[in-house]
Amino acid sequence: QNYQFLKNRHFIVTAGPTHEPIDPVRYLANRSSGKQGFAIAEALQKLGAKVTLVTGPVYQNTPDRVERVNVETAIEMEKAVENTLPADGAIFTAAVADWRFNYSPSKYKKGRSEPDLIPIENPDILSNISHRKIDRPSLVVGFAAESENLLENAKVKLQQKGCDWIIANPVIESEDAPSAMGGDYNKIFIASHAGIENWPLLSKKEVASRLASKIADYFNLINEH
Ligand code: C5P
Repeated sequence: QNYQFLKNRHFIVTAGPTHEPIDPVRYLANRSSGKQGFAIAEALQKLGAKVTLVTGPVYQNTPDRVERVNVETAIEMEKAVENTLPADGAIFTAAVADWRFNYSPSKYKKGRSEPDLIPIENPDILSNISHRKIDRPSLVVGFAAESENLLENAKVKLQQKGCDWIIANPVIESEDAPSAMGGDYNKIFIASHAGIENWPLLSKKEVASRLASKIADYFNLINEH
């Protein structure tokens, strides 16, 4: 089975956490494993797409025939994404740190004064790419990991970020779904201007292949018009 539904289409996928350095030996990070993003990159490639995977530090093998760009910080991730444009679609699965800290070139030492960490807001890559006047990919997809008010927050995020789909997933354990962060399974809702799709609990690989099919449908519909 090798349907080339996405042949001649270029996708950017972001994945993993970002690491925001605090001093020469310390950084701020989060629990993102990169699994979902890597699986999506692989699934899009299997449908014939050219895929650039911009990833923070993770322990994942690069899928065959996917171009991987390694970054550490949110600022580096944004630059790498911009350098990869133009693209037909962009799927933002990365758990980008919302803040970085003022960097201390010398290591903070115990017993001296406490570290004065000043939070500085990071660029919102999803929002910035969605709101571009030139080179905006025709399909921009964001993820929203939420611990409460999943669907309401997804709708608000869809508006604020200016993207086409928001994929909302719960990040706390519940009776019917384990936490998505770091695990192998994902329970997702897809919010778009057409409404909300509720997907069953699936492995991240299965989510990726179904999502790639949905993306292929989207582009094949565009082709018909
Ligand atoms: O606002 P929130 O962090 O929940 O948004 C999550 C979505 O936005 C994800 O798709 C994530 O990849 C993207 N994002 C981003 N840059 C940021 C923060 C989030 O691209 N600085």
